[in-house]
Amino acid sequence: MAPAKQAYLHTPFPQQLVIEATAGCNQRCVNCGRTYMARPKKTMTRAIFDKIVEEVAAENPYTEIWPTFMGEAMLLGGKLFDMIEYARHVGCQKITLNTNGTRITDKTIPRILSCGIDRLIVSCDAHTPETHHIVRPAINPKITPDLTGVYQGVLTLLDEMHTQNVTNLLVEMQFSMFDENQHEVEDFRKFWLDKGVIVKVRPKVFWSGEVAGGSHRVTLENRAPCLWAMDAAAIQWNGNVVMCPIDCDGKYVAGNIEMQSLKEIWNGPLKWIRELHLRERFSELPEVCRQCPDWEVKKAHAYFPDDAMKDSYESYVRKGRTFMEQHFWDEHKSPSSN
Ligand SMILES: C[S@@+](CC[C@H](N)C(=O)[O-])C[C@H]1O[C@@H](n2cnc3c(N)ncnc32)[C@H](O)[C@@H]1O
Repeated sequence: MAPAKQAYLHTPFPQQLVIEATAGCNQRCVNCGRTYMARPKKTMTRAIFDKIVEEVAAENPYTEIWPTFMGEAMLLGGKLFDMIEYARHVGCQKITLNTNGTRITDKTIPRILSCGIDRLIVSCDAHTPETHHIVRPAINPKITPDLTGVYQGVLTLLDEMHTQNVTNLLVEMQFSMFDENQHEVEDFRKFWLDKGVIVKVRPKVFWSGEVAGGSHRVTLENRAPCLWAMDAAAIQWNGNVVMCPIDCDGKYVAGNIEMQSLKEIWNGPLKWIRELHLRERFSELPEVCRQCPDWEVKKAHAYFPDDAMKDSYESYVRKGRTFMEQHFWDEHKSPSSN
């Protein structure tokens, strides 16, 4: 039996935790696993959310929580900000909100700035409304702004941050690279760096196979322990703790938050999954993990408008991490994140 790799260690609690505040969305993105998933798309109860963040605050307040999984959390309106405020109130120290930006408006900006988010990631995946419409079509275009509206919202937010001298919110503009949009990535990068914000460029994920393609990456021979499995956990709206943040349809349910603590689940069934990774016994993994093409893409490349922004970003990503060295990818020597 192969020994566990010394280079990687188990972390006793996830370092990143995605929480599906809602699985509802106002876009039907062509490359998103949500578009193809079969499970119900509902909203998490406050009781489940509160239990999760209370446990995080007690076990490891520096676990980075993302109140988004396969949905658009800002559709919850004021309820989302109440949830984030509560997470902050109980002691969570790292809160990242990932949004498609369609609800960044004059009405939401004051609460974005006051609720306690540390990091706001706006996923655009396009630099023209035409391409945005191809990769992120609105379910109801009459009520959902296009890319012009998203850009307007972010620019207003940046102005407001400038006016109020807000320095404790990292804003990142994100571009996930697909065949349909890659011709726009350079223009996107230049435009947003010029506005003084961080730009994130992500490789494509295939959502454990829900999105077609990626079979060239499914190999048991050349595989390495997967960082999605090693340090990040994901909880669906109904409390199901699934394989990892890539198991969008919940094909492997390790436990449920209504019955167990996250710590129990993480150090129970999910610990054995991690151990299989560490021992490189990939052929014994449950199918959703064994067949997953996304084991090598838990990394995004960040570009910074200046050194000060780079320092702020890196200190946030590193804050309280106990599983850090393993997250430096050799080729970039910069913290990976998602
Ligand atoms: C599933 S979305 C949910 C959050 C929110 N609705 C949004 O659009 O950002 C989370 C992130 O996954 C990214 N994403 C979706 N499909 C992807 C894919 N096939 N490859 C890489 N990233 C993808 C999105 O761009 C977004 O940054």
